This record gives sequence, structure tokens and C-alpha cells, in this order.
Amino acid sequence: MRFSITSLLVLFQLCSVFTAAQQQWPLHNDGQNDVVQWDHYSVIINGERIFIWSGEMHYWRIPVPELWVDVLQKVKAAGFNCVSFYAHWGFHSPSDGKLDFENGAHNFTSLFTIAKDLGLYILFRPGPYINAETTAGGFPGWLTTGDYGTLRNNDTRYTAAWTPYFDRISEIVGEHAVTRGGNVFLYQIENEYGEQWTDAATRTPNETAIAYMELLEAAANRSGINIPTIHNNPNLGTLSWSMDYDINHVGGDTDLYGLDHYPSCWSCNLEECTSVNGALPDFTLFDYYTNFQEAAPTQPSFFAEFQGGAYNPWNGPAGGCVSNTGPSWVNVFYRHNIGQKVTAQNIYMVFGGTNWGGLAFPSVGTSYDYSAPISESRLLGDKYSELKLLSYFIRAAKELTMVERAGNGTNFTNNAAVFTQVLENVQTHARFYVTVHTNSTLETQEHFKLNVSTSLGTFMVPQYATNVLLNGRQSKILLSDFSAGSQKIVYSTAEVMAVSTFETSPTIVFWVPTGESGEFYLEGAQHGSVMKCQGCSSVGFHQTQHGVITSFTQGAGFSVFKYGNGVTAIIADRTAAYTFWQPTLTNDPHVPLNSTILVAGPHLIRTAEIDGDTLALTGDYNTTTPLEVFIPSTRCTHLTFNGNPLSFHATPYGSIIAHLTAPAHTIASINATLPILSTWKVADGLPERLATYNDTNWVLANHTRTSNPNPPATYPVLYADEYGFHTGPILWRGRFSGAATGVFLNVIGGTSSGWSAWLNGVWIGSSYGNVSLAATNATLDFPGAAVKSTGENVLLVLQDNMGHDETTGVLNPRGIANATLIGGGGGNGAGLGFSSWRVQGNAGGEKDIDPVRGPLNEGGLHAERLGWHLPGFDDGDWAVGSPEEGFGEAGARFYRTVVPLRIPEGVDVSLAFELGGARESRLRAQLYVNGYQFGKRIPWVGNQVEFPVFPGILNYK
Ligand SMILES: *[C@@H]1O[C@H](CO)[C@@H](O)[C@H](O)[C@H]1NC(C)=O
Ligand SMILES: *[C@@H]1O[C@H](CO)[C@@H](O)[C@H](O)[C@H]1NC(C)=O
Ligand SMILES: *[C@@H]1O[C@H](CO)[C@@H](O)[C@H](O)[C@H]1NC(C)=O
Ligand SMILES: *[C@@H]1O[C@H](CO)[C@@H](O)[C@H](O)[C@H]1NC(C)=O
Repeated sequence: MRFSITSLLVLFQLCSVFTAAQQQWPLHNDGQNDVVQWDHYSVIINGERIFIWSGEMHYWRIPVPELWVDVLQKVKAAGFNCVSFYAHWGFHSPSDGKLDFENGAHNFTSLFTIAKDLGLYILFRPGPYINAETTAGGFPGWLTTGDYGTLRNNDTRYTAAWTPYFDRISEIVGEHAVTRGGNVFLYQIENEYGEQWTDAATRTPNETAIAYMELLEAAANRSGINIPTIHNNPNLGTLSWSMDYDINHVGGDTDLYGLDHYPSCWSCNLEECTSVNGALPDFTLFDYYTNFQEAAPTQPSFFAEFQGGAYNPWNGPAGGCVSNTGPSWVNVFYRHNIGQKVTAQNIYMVFGGTNWGGLAFPSVGTSYDYSAPISESRLLGDKYSELKLLSYFIRAAKELTMVERAGNGTNFTNNAAVFTQVLENVQTHARFYVTVHTNSTLETQEHFKLNVSTSLGTFMVPQYATNVLLNGRQSKILLSDFSAGSQKIVYSTAEVMAVSTFETSPTIVFWVPTGESGEFYLEGAQHGSVMKCQGCSSVGFHQTQHGVITSFTQGAGFSVFKYGNGVTAIIADRTAAYTFWQPTLTNDPHVPLNSTILVAGPHLIRTAEIDGDTLALTGDYNTTTPLEVFIPSTRCTHLTFNGNPLSFHATPYGSIIAHLTAPAHTIASINATLPILSTWKVADGLPERLATYNDTNWVLANHTRTSNPNPPATYPVLYADEYGFHTGPILWRGRFSGAATGVFLNVIGGTSSGWSAWLNGVWIGSSYGNVSLAATNATLDFPGAAVKSTGENVLLVLQDNMGHDETTGVLNPRGIANATLIGGGGGNGAGLGFSSWRVQGNAGGEKDIDPVRGPLNEGGLHAERLGWHLPGFDDGDWAVGSPEEGFGEAGARFYRTVVPLRIPEGVDVSLAFELGGARESRLRAQLYVNGYQFGKRIPWVGNQVEFPVFPGILNYK
């Protein structure tokens, strides 16, 4: 960020225009161009202010590029104007020097086209490090050996490793920047790297961290990134990389300051957060305003990540924890952020997706549903709907992009149990009163009147309706002098959901929870009348000299009022409001309100387009559904839905009504077509346990030194990453001669990992897994009959690798830290040692022999190496056998079945596999569907039994 000449000129002009009371704030850009600018208030793109309302999704967690449009349409339909993507270096780089941006989901450029078509800006976050609850925090496995230093610093070995990836991805993304006609407007380098200061309070710089950030910044710029860079500060205390906070110019600052915060725990296991967040979730709200003013006063208050849900750890509840961050949580916390003057927020996650293959880091299983508004199965629930109510409001409230806090406290209402934060637009003086319980942990009912100061004087409101209610966990944003298109709302005690001005005077959707009352004052309105009353009561139109004050109570449904000046007011209760959609007729992410329409009824409206006199809607519904579009019937003489013409009639209040008839296929009828998985084939999946198994083509594990900062207790080094195996199960075969009586093993696989050992084909013991132990050890006795006192013995250790740890744990090895033979009179030395070790992991190691599925899909199990999981494999000579029968001895088996599907055309069906198994079952099961690993079930440590599989992975035909 540098001050350009033009910015200074603009400043001088502004000075003369504004009143003395308004503080002057510098206008920033990134020193390269003026396409993206920002100041104390908001981000400005192509000269226009915007409230950045963003949701995060990870294309690599939904490896079916054909489905990305579905998710992004749902993001847009929810009212977002931005989407954020992390890229995953490890997903794109199977080995040092090799990059894949080409095969399958590794080519993500269609995301840019889809976002552009839909009208979503893009925040792109390429790493190199991302965290994201993924293996090694997004680093490739090959980076974790220690050979590249301790990482995330300016070590030349690490720099040389990330440079090709970072340069290439910056080039790819840079081509789609807003400066070049695309929609990418921000670029995040590094993540949660709050390392600028060794002491933030005294601004004592960490020169190494600064040097690293400067390398990243320079690499982005030289590779064509000519949009602002950001960083995402891990918490309120790190205060890193802000041009404002860095008053001594120590360096490393990004263009914009970003913060992340998870006020109600980032995990479904709330105990993981008690040290940071206290006892949760209790709806405690945080002060961010002070932090933003300290860290970045001349910049927008920007959450590069704000909680959207929580990940589900291995021992977490089946199905996640959506109730921890459900609709009322969305309601209160996101309104609170608006009250804190936040004008840019990225919700992590809006769609979580799946940790297929080896994407997970050790603490999480296959699901990355994240209890997000759009579920892992791509379904929409109440959380999504509640979010939509606020998103459309933000879209309507363009005046939020230039506000100051005008006050806060309990004196704005007549009820001290209600706390109000007041925002005021410094130009229009529109005011936003964000009300919430003074003690936000309480669930009481609080009734109140609010003191509003408006252009027409001050009022205690409501004046006619019954008092405003905060009913339990709830926040409401009340308004004064609010611009609704060309009209002004002098005040409103009902929340505004949406405003649309398509070819008409504004249509304003107000909403209240079912049965509540509201009151709004429309300036310039005359003679209001009730055009439709569905659940409305106590409606009063109170004419004043300046307009009409409308008071009402709204039960189930929605009502329509019309005013002499052409304004239409729709009054919806919450349930009815959930059925409203505001599709846009433009791909301008700023969404001018005159290019939106309002549609009520269906489960989802994806897109709307007007072509001549035809309105074409696309969307989803699953039962007979009324469809009402607020559009003059003169403007639309033909209506289609998903391409099918619909007949309709016009209402007297400016809408048209049609019906979607129930589709031929129902959930029950489709369920009835699903095959029963009854015909299975089975094969032994662990011949490696037998002494006779030929492992001569395995990798010899013979390193006598390691660069890993965590050296093993015994040698050779048995760390799989050093031998090119970075993901999934790993097999170790150790040979020894002599009369050992047992072995001591310490095996590191990450938390919840497990392992088993066999001597000459005889099982000698297992470690079943523990959610808090990354390594487990055991002393295993050799059964006398199994050990050969003369000749060679073969010990097989099969370990499950749960992925790599994050942050400072990235280099924690996966393998055997200690393998010591016991007994035979020799002790730990005395000639009684392993004569050799061989290791095997995923087929091809770093060679990436299956570039579409990529480097993380498989591990080293026999079945995985031989391609038994692939659809073309011929199991003709396998025996019949079902996983439901199970097996009693220790081993590994692979089961195959064919699942014929006939999913009807035109229905979007989400399927999942259910893998049972009692809690005490000592098994680990992996699910492969058409070659893709889409499930890992460990009943011993985990509760996930339902494993959604995307269409496209499943062949629906
Ligand atoms: C990526 O896919 C796009 C089409 O979506 C194609 O035009 C482009 O050539 C592909 N890029 C690579 C590197 O294969
Ligand atoms: C890394 O940064 C530190 C601090 O600025 C500096 O002393 C060191 O020389 C740098 N290392 C390299 C390899 O540039
Ligand atoms: C400075 O940053 C480097 C690189 O992230 C880190 O390894 C080191 O611990 C930091 N030093 C201090 C004193 O915080
Ligand atoms: C909130 O109100 C208190 C008390 O009037 C005041 O000291 C504080 O500055 C206000 N905070 C903001 C952010 O407006």
C-alpha cells in the first residue's frame, strides 16, 4: 500500500466538501493501480464502495469440477457478493519440482468463469501455508522431511521449494484479477502467521518473519498479482502485517489488514477451546472495534475469516454440531459484527465439503461439513435461510459502507437489558441501531422502545405498534433515514430483509419473527392500503405531514401493502421470509437494486434472466410449490422455470403467481430404487504379513541420518516421508535373525492413529488409537512358535497414517521412532538387531501415477497399490464374502461390490454410504467409490457413520 498522487488529490477535494465533524481518512491503493482502493470505511472497487460479504469454499474438497457451479450458485443465491478459495499446495504438487494445475480438479480456472458469470468477487488464498485442518496445513508431504528447514521462514531451501508453486499459481490467478477483467480482487499470502512482532505491544520486529513475508509479497507482484495483498491474523493479539500498526516501517506489511476470529469455538469439541474462549458456547460477544482501530484505523474492519461453523474432530458428535452455530447464532453474531463497523467479512466455511483421500489432518475425519450453511451434501437448511435474511439486507444497505459508530450503550432504549450499537453514515446520516441483550448470554424476552434521531426529529419508537421484542437469542437492526432506492425510510422497528427497485418504485421486504409487530415510517408516502393480508393484524396507516407510519402485527405468511407513491411493502414472518429470494439480473457483484427481482416460494432460486418478454428462472423444489414473482406483469408475458414454460396470473399488487407441480420423483421413490449392497467379493488384503512375501521391489529404508528435527531413537530412520510416502497406510518390513523374544515399537501416525504387527505371518499386537496420542508404543512378545531361532524372521508393521500435523507440528514424522528387539540374551545391542527394513506406501510414491485423483488419494495397502479400488479392476476370481460378516483374526481384507444406480434425469440427489460398527469394534475401514477414497470409519475413536459421496464420483447412470 502506497499513497498515490491521485489519492492525495481526491483527499483535498473531499476536505472542502465534508463538514468539519467528519474526520478525513486517507484513500489507499496497492501502489500499482486504482482498481481496488480502500479507506477507513470500506473497500472500493472500480470507484464503488462495497460491503464485502464473502463465503469460503475449497474446490479441492469437492473434486468434481462440474459441481462447483452448484455450490457457487447457492453462495450467490444466499446474497453473498464474494467467494474465497484456499488453494492447497500439497494437492497440486506430488513431488518437488512437479506441479499439476491441469488434471481434473487440479485445474480450477473454471471457478473464475463461474464466479464472473454469477457476479461474485473472489478472495484468493494460495498459501503456501493455509492451515485449513488439512494435512501439513496444505504443505506437500515431501516438504515435511526437514530437508527444507523448519519452514515458514526465509530459509533458502524453503524459498526454493515454494517459489515455483507460488509463481505459477500467482500467474494463473493474476490473469483473472479485477485489473484484467476478472473478479479476483484480493490475494492472501500466508495464513494465520501473526509473527511480525516478537512483542506486539512494543512493536519489536521479528526480522526473519518479516524477510519471509517480503519474499512472498515480491513473488506475488513479480508473477502478475496487481491487486492488494492481505494476511489473516490468527487472533486479536498478534497485530501483524498492518501498514497502520507498523509505524516504524519494519516491513513485511500486506496491503490490507485482515483478522480471523472464531468466537464460539472452531471445533465441535468445545473442550478444545476452553483455554481461549472460556466455557462455550454461551453467546459471549467480543469487542473487535477497539482492535481494528488499534491495528488498522485507516482501513476497513475486515474479517478475512469469521466463524461459519466448526470442524468435527474424531471424537465429535455424528453429523457435526450445527446447533452450536445455528440460525440464532448466525442472527446474533453477524449482526454484532455489523455493529462493530465491520464492512468486509469472509465466512469460514460457507460450504465445507469432504476430506476425501488423505486431505484430513490428524484431528478430523472424512467429513468437512463444518456445520456450514451449505452442507457437505450441498443441502440448504435454516442456517442458510437465516444467513440469507441478513445478506440481502447488507445488499440493500449500501449506506453501511461509510459509517462511523455514533454511540453504544443501554440508554438508546427504555430497557437497560437491551444494548444498542449505533452506526451512522457520515454522508447521508442513515443510522443503524444494532440491538441485542446487554448480557448476550441471556435468553430472556426483552421488550423495548428505541429512541431514534432522524431528519424529521427524534421519536421513541414504535409509536403505535407494540414494543420491539428481543426473544431469547436474537439481535435486530433497526433503522433511521435509510435509503430504499429513491425512497427514504424515516425509521423502522421491523428489520429490512431486501429492497428491489426493478422498473418500479421500491419493493421493500420487512420481516419479523412470527406473531411480532413492527412499525415503519415511509417518507413521502400517502394512503397505505392492504393489498394482501396473510396473517396480518392490527394494521394501522398513520398519515403525517411527511409520509405514512405503518404499524402491524404479522402472523404466519406474508402480507402486501401499497402506498400512493408507488412503494410496495411486503411484510413477512420469518418462515415466509425464508422462502424469499432475490436473484440478480446482472453479474455486477455490487448488485444495483434495480437489477434484482424478488421471488417467493421455491426451495432455491439459482438464477433469473429476462430475455425480451420472458423471465427465465432456474431453481430447485421438491414438492408442489407456489411461485410468486414481484415483477410487473407487463414486463413479463412469459415465464419459464428450469426451461419449462409456466402459466401464471397477475395480482393486483404487482406480482405474478404460478405453480410448480410436484416432480414425478420423490425422495421415497428414489430411495426405493437404491440397490441393497448384498453381493460382495472379498480378497485377502495383507499378504505382506507372511514371511514368504516378496518385497524386493520395496524401498530399502536404510537412512542412517535424518534432517528431521525429531530424530528417531533407533536406526535406520523409519520415517515414511523420507522414502517418498506421504499419505495413508504405510507398511514396514523388518528382518532379523536370532532368538529374539519380543520387540519394542514406538509408532508415530498422528493422533487417533493405530498400528498392528505380525511376525512371520502371526499377529503379535496392535494399538487401536487414541484421540490424544500421536505416537503409541508397546512391547510385544513373540509367540514361541512364530519366531525362528535360526534363519530369517520378518516383522511387518502396518500403520495407519492420519496425515501431517499443522503449524509447528508440520515436521512431526510418520513412521517408527523406535524398533528394538528384545531378549535372546542380547539386549538392545549385542548383535541382535534388524538386518534390514523395507517400506511401502502409495503406489508410485511421489510419481503421481493417477494425476486426476492426485497425490493424496491412496495409501500403501495391498489393495490400494494393486488398484483393487479402481472401477476397471477384474475381481472375477475373488471369493464371495461380505464386510458385514467381518473376520475374527487380525488382517486386512478388501471387499468389492457393484452399485447400479438409475437416478432420474433432472433431479439433484445427494447420496451417502452408511458404515456402521459398534464403538468397541477394533477396525479401521476405508471406503472407495470408483477409485476415490470417500470415507474412513474408525468406530474406536470416531462417530461418523454417514459418508456423502458426490455425484460425478458416483455414476448416476
Ligand atoms: C483448465 O481448464 C480450462 C477450461 O476450464 C482450459 O481452458 C485450460 O486450458 C485448462 N488449463 C490447463 C492448464 O489445462
Ligand atoms: C533471513 O532473515 C534474517 C533477518 O532479516 C537475515 O538475517 C538472514 O540473512 C535471512 N536469511 C536469508 C537466507 O536471506
Ligand atoms: C520469528 O519468526 C520465525 C519464523 O516464523 C520463528 O521461527 C521464530 O520463532 C520467531 N521468533 C520469535 C522470537 O518469535
Ligand atoms: C461505547 O460507549 C462507551 C461509553 O459511552 C464509550 O466510551 C466508547 O468509546 C464507545 N465505543 C464505541 C466503539 O463507540
